[in-house]
Amino acid sequence: MAILEVLKFPDSRLRLKGAPVLSVNAEMKQLAEDMLETMYSFKGIGLAAIQVNRQVRLLVTDTRPREGGRYKPEEQTELERAVVQPLVLFNPEIIKKEGKTTYDEGCLSVPTYYETVDRFDYVEVKALDIDGKEILIKTDGLLAICIQHEIDHLDGKLFIDRLSPIKSARIKSKIKKHGYPDPSHPESEEDLDEAEADEEREEHRL
Ligand code: NI
Repeated sequence: MAILEVLKFPDSRLRLKGAPVLSVNAEMKQLAEDMLETMYSFKGIGLAAIQVNRQVRLLVTDTRPREGGRYKPEEQTELERAVVQPLVLFNPEIIKKEGKTTYDEGCLSVPTYYETVDRFDYVEVKALDIDGKEILIKTDGLLAICIQHEIDHLDGKLFIDRLSPIKSARIKSKIKKHGYPDPSHPESEEDLDEAEADEEREEHRL
């Protein structure tokens, strides 16, 4: 097991696309385990292989409510609760999508930034599981949002690409100019407030 480095925007490697996984072999299983450990260590609820500089179509999720977290058990939908998590999905493909929803998304590759993103409310996703077996996931709720966010990563896309052109450009130039605030060395009152708000939401990074 290992905690992997998570690439941060504007690292150009986040723009690479994942290649299909031809065989769920020992190396791929190890990568999935390492990604889960990495995701938990940064309090994320999802992680895609592209984020750890591996260009394969693999994502992991665990959107289950956590002790003391913002996401409460009663907010979980029935469909989401029926999916056994953590999920390891190789070659995930959305084969059905319905309805619209929005969510205040964050990302381990864009820390401290949160923006409302439009997503499909319900998805059916075909994939291979950790044993290389074909599975079909039917879900809505936070898990459906998370899977869509992670599949975007596998196509080189970030949630900040899905905002209005003006908002997207503003956030990207702000990050390129100032980087990310360091919560242990706040430079201003505003940084402190942001760090506090981030602390409350950080478990929602996808
Ligand atoms: Ni992300």
